Amino acid sequence: MEVSPTEAPMDLLLEADPSREKIEGYLPRSRCFVATLDGAPAGVYVVLETAPAEYELMNIAVAPHLQGKGIGTTLLRHAIATVRELGARRLEVGTGTFGHQLAYYQREGFRVSRVDRDFFLENYPEPIYENGIQHKDMLRLVLEYR
Ligand SMILES: CC(C)(COP(=O)(O)OP(=O)(O)OC[C@H]1O[C@@H](n2cnc3c(N)ncnc32)[C@H](O)[C@@H]1OP(=O)(O)O)[C@@H](O)C(=O)NCCC(=O)NCCS
Repeated sequence: MEVSPTEAPMDLLLEADPSREKIEGYLPRSRCFVATLDGAPAGVYVVLETAPAEYELMNIAVAPHLQGKGIGTTLLRHAIATVRELGARRLEVGTGTFGHQLAYYQREGFRVSRVDRDFFLENYPEPIYENGIQHKDMLRLVLEYR
């Protein structure tokens, strides 16, 4: 269900984007959707219209203890459908250049569009590690609606 940006579950948003400052920057301009389980937030996604008919998936996350059960895929499909209904031509997402997220997005039709070299080095004060590897570059993925 859609919630107002002020009701967004910040702890979940921080799972996908470690910068609270960045989240607080885009959240008020975005639309936020939350999935709940037994009354508690299980997953969240945030979309922002960046140009007419062009949207960006700013954040998508599932509570750590519920990951790997299909909730993330259901949320991503919901995000794709929501943005389609809003009349989008394209949906873009920025992610790291390695990790399971790449298959997760590409399975739903996202294609690689470009690399933002040094993005994580230049935009985050703390180094970001996953599986012991430092994230340096951002991969931009795009889903084109037809
Ligand atoms: C990315 C994320 C939203 C996926 O949600 P999820 O509920 O775990 O997704 P699903 O259960 O639908 O699984 C999707 C695929 O990712 C894989 N996967 C999920 N979590 C994984 C993990 N921690 N390690 C390895 N693979 C994982 C699943 O196995 C599945 O692939 P498969 O079908 O080939 O097995 C979730 O892992 C998450 O919140 N991660 C932290 C935040 C984040 O990285 N967000 C994306 C920012 S770009």
